Parts: sequence; C-alpha cells; structure tokens
Amino acid sequence: MQRVYMDYAATTPMLPEVAAAMQPFFSQRFGNPSSIHSMGQESRDAVEAARGQVAGLIGCQPADVVFTGGGTEADNHAIKGVCLAGRDRGNHIITTAIEHPAVIYACNFMKTLGFDVTVAPVDSNGLVDPGDIKKAITGRTLLVSVMQANNEVGAIQPIAEISKITREAGVYFHVDAVQAMGHLPVDVDQLGVDLLSASAHKLYGPNVYQAGHTHPASTAWWWAGGGKARRNRERPGHCRLRQSGRNSLPRYG
Ligand SMILES: Cc1ncc(COP(=O)(O)O)c(C=O)c1O
Repeated sequence: MQRVYMDYAATTPMLPEVAAAMQPFFSQRFGNPSSIHSMGQESRDAVEAARGQVAGLIGCQPADVVFTGGGTEADNHAIKGVCLAGRDRGNHIITTAIEHPAVIYACNFMKTLGFDVTVAPVDSNGLVDPGDIKKAITGRTLLVSVMQANNEVGAIQPIAEISKITREAGVYFHVDAVQAMGHLPVDVDQLGVDLLSASAHKLYGPNVYQAGHTHPASTAWWWAGGGKARRNRERPGHCRLRQSGRNSLPRYG
C-alpha cells in the first residue's frame, strides 16, 4: 500500500536543496560564529546571510530577525519578552480563543506573574472581530497577540485592521504567522506588526531553525548578555534545546 502524507500543516519534508545547502555546516564548516578565527567567521557570515534572506522575505531589517528553536519558542520569546520588558507600563494581554497552545500557554504563564489576559471570541468561521480587540484595550494593555492563519480551520484573521487599532492605542502587536508564511503575503510593515513568529519546518525548511521577527523591547530583556548571548543562541544546539525544553518545562494550560 502506498502511504500518502497529508499533514503538511503539521510539518513538511526538507527540500533536497535545503539539505545540500546546510550539510557542510554539520561536518566541515562547524565553527562557532562567536569565534574570532576564520572558521568561526565563516559560520557567522552564513548566519548573517540567512538572517538577511529572512529579513527580505518579511520586509524587515536583518538586525530585527532572531533565530529560535521553533515557532513555539518564537511565540514564547515574543510574548514573555515584551511583557517582562514592559511590565512597568502595563500588565494586560489580549489574545483570541483560536490561538496555538504556544501563545495560550505563554499568556497563562504571564498570569502567574500578575498579568491579566483577555481572550477575544471568534465567530463560527473562526474569525475575530477587530471591534472586540478595540473594546478590550485598557490603559494597562501592553500586548495584543493574534495569529495570521489558524492551524486547524484555516481562518485568516484581519491582521492589518487589528494593527490600525494597536498602533492608535500604542500597544505592541504580535502575530503568529507560522501557518501563513509561504501561503499568504507576510510583510511586517504592510501588516503593521511589531513581532512575528515563523517556522521553517512548515515550509520545506529544516526542523531546526525557525525565526522570529522581534521588537527591541522584547530582546532587551530576553537576551541578557547582549550580542554574544544572541549569537551563541543561533547555533545548531537549538535543536537539542527545543527537544529538552518541550519535555522538561512546566505547562501552563
Ligand atoms: C499557528 C502555530 N503556531 C505555532 C506553532 C508551533 O510551531 P513549532 O512546531 O515550530 O514549534 C504551530 C505548529 O503547529 C502552529 O501551527
């Protein structure tokens, strides 16, 4: 019997050309991108070239791209990073009833640190009403997090409309675009988003490196140690951290 794989929203096979492009970095060109010798610098150049490619894809500056161990980690990074960095400005998050657990659990975690979370409802098509987001914003609201496309029912949210509301209110806007990348136009300026999560293994990339578009507010707190910590983070060790993180971290939902 021929097996047919129909779960491409869960993950996709890595394209042979992606595997070929990455292969040398697992064996011959394995230098630490923080090392000052030529092998380290070669790795660093490769990471920076990849960062430039991701930036070109989503219309942001290369410096705004942070590679993470997965879409889950990008969502956690965005939500916890902004909330912890901005906790003296507010303690309220607005999200929706249709988010991925990575967003819901990260919001639940922030509740344990004194944040309130408002969950906006969705209609029978899985769509959120931007008016509900607007109504929920208070003087304490720091962050709105809404996914671009849903992983189960495919609902596409009115991101540009919601961003007009968050911009006017001066509230950070995070978009989980993990299911949208490769299917819908994803341009951070056109969408008007401050933070965006994406995941390479959903679009024929490796099940190792994913990417988050960050706002300096979130990196300021999260990447303690500055540039070196950030560069060290962006190494193949991601893969292992991702696995161990999933098994050992407490769950908040
Ligand atoms: C909408 C959405 N967000 C986040 C994730 C988590 O991504 P990852 O599997 O890369 O951790 C998924 C994965 O299915 C997803 O569909």
